[in-house]
Amino acid sequence: MPDRLFVPAHEGSRVDHLGTYQRVLPVSLERMFENTIDWEHLPWLHRSSFSAIACEDAGPWGWRAWVKNSHGADSLLELRLDTRQRRWVTRTLEGAGAGAEIWTYVVERGPQSIEVVIDFFVPGIPEASRQKLGQTYARIYETLYDEDVMMMEGRHRVLNERIPPLEKDVRPRLLGAPETLRFPHRVGYAGRPLLIWKLKSGFHVTAARCPHQGAELAGADVEGHEATCPWHGYRFDLVSGECPGNSTLTVATAFSAWLESGNLWVGWHKDH
Ligand SMILES: [Fe+2]
Repeated sequence: MPDRLFVPAHEGSRVDHLGTYQRVLPVSLERMFENTIDWEHLPWLHRSSFSAIACEDAGPWGWRAWVKNSHGADSLLELRLDTRQRRWVTRTLEGAGAGAEIWTYVVERGPQSIEVVIDFFVPGIPEASRQKLGQTYARIYETLYDEDVMMMEGRHRVLNERIPPLEKDVRPRLLGAPETLRFPHRVGYAGRPLLIWKLKSGFHVTAARCPHQGAELAGADVEGHEATCPWHGYRFDLVSGECPGNSTLTVATAFSAWLESGNLWVGWHKDH
């Protein structure tokens, strides 16, 4: 057996194999493919590695985008997904790291279990440095997959949740003295998860999850009245529910929270 399972694709090829990262993930193939073509999450969910993205083209085939890494270097990346062969390749076409190719294969282990095998190929790396660089890539991918698993498992939970129809006669509920609560305060009410926000203008209630892909908004960055979703950076006005720049998305704001004799209550808007 040769020690290197991968050899260059062509005689004289300069794209060397640096190493492999392999991992079993508790997610379905469907969630994995969805994550793969989701270019938007790179600078948000993966802000540990990326700081900006400008997409040139995207579709079910994959995407091509200029990406800025966390050190400020720009690269034109292209990801091509082959669902039939259960693999995708990410190539650096231009900029920092041009010529690098990352090949990922997926093996389905069960309905909620897959194994990914990721091979790193980078041209022009001296033999003596390859292993070390391969280990660096593996560490980066370990972090990326930790972050992705969090999102994919969250998506799975949200997609499998059954939210009951909204009942008009649901009674207001006493939450307690606001000093004893941490905000945003998450509460299950009328069969749905809600967040109660304490803003300068008072208490406001929204759905607990982002209407885009279901991220928990409790972890959002809040500035004034606006929350930024941690998965894809969509911003929501916590008072109106609107998403600036995206008229198709709104976070539900059907309920209210109010103070009565020093206690916080949640219920329908008073005008209902
Ligand atoms: Fe990802």
